[in-house]
Amino acid sequence: MKALVLIFCMCTLSIASRDTGFPAGLMADCPGMTKNTTLSDKTKDSLTVVALWPSNNWIGVEEVTCKLNREGAACVDKHLDLTKKTVIFISGYLDASFSPVVRTVATPYIERGRNVIILEIYPILHRTYPIAARLTKPLGNFLGEFLAELTRRGLHPDKLELLGGSLGAHIASYAATKYHELTHLKPSRLTGLDPAGPCFRTLPRSERFNSDAAHKVDAVHTNIDGFGLAEAVGHVDFYINGGEFQPSTMQDYLLPCFQLCSHVRSAVYWLISNYAKDKFLGVKCDSVPHARHGQCYHGHLEINVLGPKTNFSRHGIYYVPTLDIFPYYMGEKGLKKRQYDVNNYLLKVAPDEDMVI
Ligand SMILES: *[C@@H]1O[C@H](CO)[C@@H](O)[C@H](O)[C@H]1NC(C)=O
Ligand SMILES: *[C@@H]1O[C@H](CO)[C@@H](O)[C@H](O)[C@H]1NC(C)=O
Repeated sequence: MKALVLIFCMCTLSIASRDTGFPAGLMADCPGMTKNTTLSDKTKDSLTVVALWPSNNWIGVEEVTCKLNREGAACVDKHLDLTKKTVIFISGYLDASFSPVVRTVATPYIERGRNVIILEIYPILHRTYPIAARLTKPLGNFLGEFLAELTRRGLHPDKLELLGGSLGAHIASYAATKYHELTHLKPSRLTGLDPAGPCFRTLPRSERFNSDAAHKVDAVHTNIDGFGLAEAVGHVDFYINGGEFQPSTMQDYLLPCFQLCSHVRSAVYWLISNYAKDKFLGVKCDSVPHARHGQCYHGHLEINVLGPKTNFSRHGIYYVPTLDIFPYYMGEKGLKKRQYDVNNYLLKVAPDEDMVI
């Protein structure tokens, strides 16, 4: 009898949720992703990093460009105080060290007195996407060798954090893995801002952003079936508003936030969380499918916070609801289940009642 009831319940559940399977996701498999990609000596020699440090001048920051090799590590050592906390930032496809997004994300770190080292991905990643995706591994390996050299020069791994957006998240993870191979040490933290999905979805775990790469690994998911990756890849994975599309309205108008908008929003949330450190609260979910729909509010809520104060003793998948307008965070209000979960923001522009127009 119990079994019958259970079967009946399961049938109604599956009808109610209309199982249409999982999205394959944008560019799930790309040819050649598991083949070797080698950089010529000329290309290698063209790679650089931009090192930034706080200063007393009128813009509050100074910078220098150094090569991504042994000589470049000496150059960085000459300008940075390597006993200070250092964040390595790697931006995504078609970005550059001088882009406003990259500079803005670096700002809170400089303001906190940190060193910032930006891997210059311009123009090396300005190629057609699947080629750029294949370049992430050799770039990550060179960056890992470079970081190992900085550690030989005094940069302690506990003071080393990597932050990568989109393709840059995979580069950061490869770099951290290479660093570990060379030094037997792991960086303290690795954060991925919507790690890139296209060309990476079906790769084995070791071949993409993964939680073995650093002591604390987290990922902020904002466009999982488009430019991002659906799988939970860190010790802590935040699925913001379900992780697929981000809400956006202006006054009474809906401004749909499609793939690129949702993808880039991960950097926006990250930036804000570096100022509002206790505000992006997430509740733990049993699975990614539950996180997608915000169905995580049953029983005792386990909570974590996105940003510099994430508690890495609380591993897992977290659903983080936000508002549809800047500065997005909900604080404690995000700990209450909303009527329309990930689509709750639509209530603001469309009433839930009978209508005559
Ligand atoms: C890539 O290159 C390495 C070293 O040259 C070699 O051992 C490995 O088999 C190659 N992998 C593939 C998939 O060709
Ligand atoms: C982090 O989480 C652990 C386990 O839930 C808890 O014991 C600890 O107090 C938390 N740390 C902070 C700083 O909240």
